[in-house]
Amino acid sequence: MKLWGGRFTKEENQLVHEFNESLSFDQRLYRQDIEGSIAHVTMLAKQGIVTGEDRDAIIGGLKGILTDIENGTLKFTKEHEDIHSFVEANLTERIGEPGKRLHTGRSRNDQVALDMKLYCREQTEEIAGLVKELEQVLLTIMEENLETYMPGFTHMQKAQPVTLAHHVGAYFEMLERDRSRLKDIVKRMNYCPLGAGALAGTTYPLDRGYTAEFLGFSGPTLNSMDSVSDRDYVIELLSALSTIAMHLSRFSEEIIIWNSNEYRFVEIDDAYSTGSSIMPQKKNPDIAELVRGKTGRVYGALVAILTTMKGLPLAYNKDMQEDKELTFDAIDTVKNCLRLFTGMISTMSFRKDVMEQSAKHGFTNATDAADYLVNHGVPFRDAHGIVGQLVLYCIDKGIALDDMTLAEFRAISPVFQEDVYEAISMKTCVEKRMTLGAPGPEAMRKVIAECRRRLED
Ligand code: ARG
Repeated sequence: MKLWGGRFTKEENQLVHEFNESLSFDQRLYRQDIEGSIAHVTMLAKQGIVTGEDRDAIIGGLKGILTDIENGTLKFTKEHEDIHSFVEANLTERIGEPGKRLHTGRSRNDQVALDMKLYCREQTEEIAGLVKELEQVLLTIMEENLETYMPGFTHMQKAQPVTLAHHVGAYFEMLERDRSRLKDIVKRMNYCPLGAGALAGTTYPLDRGYTAEFLGFSGPTLNSMDSVSDRDYVIELLSALSTIAMHLSRFSEEIIIWNSNEYRFVEIDDAYSTGSSIMPQKKNPDIAELVRGKTGRVYGALVAILTTMKGLPLAYNKDMQEDKELTFDAIDTVKNCLRLFTGMISTMSFRKDVMEQSAKHGFTNATDAADYLVNHGVPFRDAHGIVGQLVLYCIDKGIALDDMTLAEFRAISPVFQEDVYEAISMKTCVEKRMTLGAPGPEAMRKVIAECRRRLED
């Protein structure tokens, strides 16, 4: 059914209808559309623009539509262009004349801006909740692994020893920033466009503050042209989702490496792995790979909407209908990634012994061996050279620094004493790194307490 029959003399071409329609994807906004209409008509009646009787009939009809959509008795049929015309046509079919009064002082332009904002606001909050659930899992891993030693890497080369708590803590920080970004976006998004009309407001005495408050906004937007053509909130959300996806992708990449035969730092649970149809020995990290892979489509959505918006003159243009499918897809994708990643990591087992052996055999304590010499009066440059010789010697013999005998140590530098073993043990190396933010368990305990506090806030 068309909303603009009056001015037109020809039927719409079928292809045009299919190209133009958005009901096939904006049907997911039905709840927001109905909520917005209830707010609008409540305000219209308060302002004396429609009667209390019409308001009650309209609200009753809208609630009926909501129920029927949710219990599946009302189907989205193809002849309607979008969710707004679908709801309105159904309303009029149900309650007759009063249904036709709902659209007074409103345009689909402010209506769609409102629906999309309500949807994005709700989804942003839901995603922040999912991020928090993942953070909770990470925090538990951190608490349990303050003394699980592992190599820290730079350039993918073993560098200095850290702990699993510390490594995982890095991702906790990223996710904390993600969560705060999401909260921040809601603050900026939370202004109500309803009442902006098509672009220039309306001549009816609307109370925009009332509808804004009714729908839980901080207030109404202040420029009607901007209200109907602003999609910054979509862009900000997609940007935050892209950053979340990037973080999950980096972590996934590490898990894929850690799960490889070469590393064996972790074992992904059977429930989150898949086999090969031809190679019986395989247990593949498909979930981590998919989370990493899906990052591409989330970035794609961000770039697509930025590009769609870049040349648009004020005010509403139909181009903006393109915001929906990509936003919905990015939201669904990130939610699924968060859920699956959380499930995967909370069931994954860590091979602590393999991690510690790897740290030892990667000479991650070489810096500490040099510091030992410095503490015994050797200038740092000389100490660096001496430890370089030790490393060369060990590589040649296929052993770790800790495996050398004292005689071997002393053959390279007589400064070494029996206490070198303690000085370069993984435990000492990590414990001594006690500046705030470092892997030392004392420092980490303080950080973990702060992380807990932030999560409980
Ligand atoms: N389906 C449209 C969209 O998503 C709704 C607004 C249509 N407004 C209009 N004047 N054609 O943007």
